[in-house]
Amino acid sequence: MCGIVGYVGGRAALPLIMGGLARLEYRGYDSAGVAIQSPGGELVTAKKAGVLDNLRTAIGDGADLAGSTGMGHTRWATHGGPTDRNAHPHADGSGRLAVIHNGIIENFAALRTELESAGVEPVSDTDTEVVAHLLGAAFAAGPTAGDLTASMQAVCRRLHGTFTLVALHADRPGEIVAARRSSPLVLGVGDGEMFLASDVSAFLEYTRDAVELGQDQVVTLTADSYLVTDFLGNPLQGKHFHVDWEIAEAERGGYPTFMDKEIAEQPEALANTLRGHFDGRHILLDEQRMSDDDLRTIDKVFVVACGSAYHSGLVAKYAIEHWARLPVEVELASEFRYRDPILDRATLVVAVSQSGETMDTLEALRHARRQKATVLAVCNTNGAQIPRESDAVLYTHAGPEIGVASTKAFLAQVAANYLLGLALAQARGTKYPSEIAADFDQLAQIPDAVRATLAGMDPVRRLGQDLATAPAVLFLGRHVGYPVALEGALKLKELAYMHAEGFAAGELKHGPIALVEDGLPMVIVMPSAKSHPMLHRKMLSNIREVQSRGARTIVIAEEGDDTVAPFADTLIDVPIVPPLLQPLVATVPLQILAAEIARARGYDIDKPRNLAKSVTVE
Ligand code: G6P
Repeated sequence: MCGIVGYVGGRAALPLIMGGLARLEYRGYDSAGVAIQSPGGELVTAKKAGVLDNLRTAIGDGADLAGSTGMGHTRWATHGGPTDRNAHPHADGSGRLAVIHNGIIENFAALRTELESAGVEPVSDTDTEVVAHLLGAAFAAGPTAGDLTASMQAVCRRLHGTFTLVALHADRPGEIVAARRSSPLVLGVGDGEMFLASDVSAFLEYTRDAVELGQDQVVTLTADSYLVTDFLGNPLQGKHFHVDWEIAEAERGGYPTFMDKEIAEQPEALANTLRGHFDGRHILLDEQRMSDDDLRTIDKVFVVACGSAYHSGLVAKYAIEHWARLPVEVELASEFRYRDPILDRATLVVAVSQSGETMDTLEALRHARRQKATVLAVCNTNGAQIPRESDAVLYTHAGPEIGVASTKAFLAQVAANYLLGLALAQARGTKYPSEIAADFDQLAQIPDAVRATLAGMDPVRRLGQDLATAPAVLFLGRHVGYPVALEGALKLKELAYMHAEGFAAGELKHGPIALVEDGLPMVIVMPSAKSHPMLHRKMLSNIREVQSRGARTIVIAEEGDDTVAPFADTLIDVPIVPPLLQPLVATVPLQILAAEIARARGYDIDKPRNLAKSVTVE
């Protein structure tokens, strides 16, 4: 969370920074702010609570913010409420130094007390302001006086927690100093200009030549140079890479929201994720850096993840256990490491994350590696922290996901987990090669099935309008339909701020049925009548139970399932696919339903309140 942009070069910094912030706004939109070195040798800042547009209005024509060195910040609040006062940049007492920050300074309370006893009077509630004062003091006097880079190194050595920091000082015109530990930061190298950002989309319009900054590094930028050092001042080599994303890929492409666009892109996201992973005979996980021998030594799998990624893990459990005959546990990353799980060299921990930055997942994988487990990242973001710290990576290729609520990345995670399941089955010999080939072939047909699902969604959109005033919606599923129910409920909570819960249908009689009352909408994900007749029969009974108590039943069922029609107030058809793959089609109507209800209620679908796309704090 929090987006960071920096620019130093020959052009006016403000428009470049505001453009970069607009692309990074998905990272947090509690407030936004900029600081520019003015030609007169001052530091001018502007900041405003709320979305970036508020700042834009406050800035007006930007005449006060002329200058060609500057930085900008879009905030997801952690320490201190989302107010003007707590918005970044934060200044030191002199007002000549400004800092922006992404992350959390864990020892900020002790540092703040220390500053207060030295007479400093903080003006905000943030952890960031503490850094501004420390940096200002280090620059003002002592061994690092007048040297912003050395001051930054010295201050970073005192900080605990996660941070990307960017600083400007009025006495150092044309210079930006930044530091990173855990939180993301990339450098864009232009011709006579340099960019800094939380991710490349902020500067892709201007340069595709990028440098990745590692852990505990400081970078000093001028228009024509950059110098990377560690926190002790030792020079380091930055890692160059070329960005081949098209900028248009990160834009809305004519859809009203990113989420609508990303829902529509799901067939392609799935096809891209599967592409190149089967050579006609073998499942290939080319970025996995794990041999079949390595996979054979595995005797237990943990999937650790958060939010939708966690739900993709719940689906994976059904597939991996069935195909590879390996026990799979699925854990919320935030619970995993505090539970002291039993891990050893024969344990495979699969860390699933769209962003590759989620702090809970990152800490879970660090814990797993310390216990000698092998960690495989399933990630959508190339070069992000989670894949970098893992033993092996399986990238999903869903493309950039901007909508905060995950859609195409979720389906891609489910598909990647299936690939992993097949790879484990292949290595362990629990499936014949012909079965693996047949299973992959069925997976390869899923993008078309999702396309067909998307083509039939008008009734779901109408239903969304209809349900806009419902007080709550319950979701029921069995087998792989259970994680689908959880994901449907999560989408509705995230987007429509509506009370929504997903349940395993068998649990209904153990509590949730008490919630059922006249008119309560209940979404039921039907198992396949042909492949799972027993589960199908049980689910029919569950539908009867809730319908007889007045529930309004909305049933997702495979095409041609006539038996369920009499019990469905609304029946939503999805194509027939193999039962384990059903989540890839059954989730789609639930995504659309949540988006439509949120739209009907007048909410911002891409930026649900209180949420952030990547959650880089625990
Ligand atoms: C946030 C997002 C969710 C996402 C979760 C995990 O809460 O709002 O949509 O599922 O983080 O994110 P990750 O990037 O690790 O998949």
